[in-house]
This record gives sequence, structure tokens and C-alpha cells, in this order.
Amino acid sequence: MDRQAYIELLLDHYEHPRNRGRLENPDVQMSWGNPGCGDVVTLYLKISADGRITEIAFEGEGCTVSQASASILTEHVKGQTLSYAQNLSPDDVAAWVGREVMMSRPRCALLALSALKLALQEYRASSPTASG
Ligand code: FES
Repeated sequence: MDRQAYIELLLDHYEHPRNRGRLENPDVQMSWGNPGCGDVVTLYLKISADGRITEIAFEGEGCTVSQASASILTEHVKGQTLSYAQNLSPDDVAAWVGREVMMSRPRCALLALSALKLALQEYRASSPTASG
């Protein structure tokens, strides 16, 4: 995709966010904010006994890149295994949102990934038998 296509993708996700909202009785939820600006993303996850993220939703307030990246992240993570989510890296986010956006707004683009990593940490800590 070229630069314009990535910008259109981000705007589309910002204006029409996927998986936005709150899940009732999530297996784990996590809020994470960017201390530089106060923008925040909260993730809600439901995780099956065999270690698959069956549902994911997010709420948040913030800039276009942070909120659009959260929406995009939920699309990529939904239905995947815990180990897939655990192994996601900034390079994966760069592939989703475009390297230029990642270079210019890394903290915005990575806010949701940081929330996801912390959510998985918390899930493992509270579920000692969890795999992945
Ligand atoms: Fe705050 Fe983008 S300006 S996360």
C-alpha cells in the first residue's frame, strides 16, 4: 500500500472503529495510556480454555493514530492464539499501519499493542495454567 492508502485505512478505522465497546465479564481487561498526551486505550479479552482469543473489544480516547491502531489490532488478534498475540512486535504494527506512520508516531501506533502485552501478562499471572 502507498502512503495515501495507509492514511485512508487509518481514517476509516478511526471513523468506523471495529470491535469498539466493552465486553461483559472479560477474562482480562487492561487500560494503558500514553503519559505524554493522556490518550488511553482499554482492551477487553475473552480467552478460551485452549488459549484462543475468542473475543476482543476496545474503548479509548485519543488521537486518530492511537484509536485507529487499536481498531486494526483487534481485527488481527480476534480468533488468534495467545502465542500469536504474545509474539506480535512493533514490526507487525508497522506492517498494519504503514512504516511512515510508525516512524513519525510510534507511541500513538503502539499504544494498543502495549495494552495487549500488559493484558496478556496479567492474564498469565491470574491464570497459572494458561499456556502461550
Ligand atoms: Fe496521544 Fe497519539 S497523541 S497517543
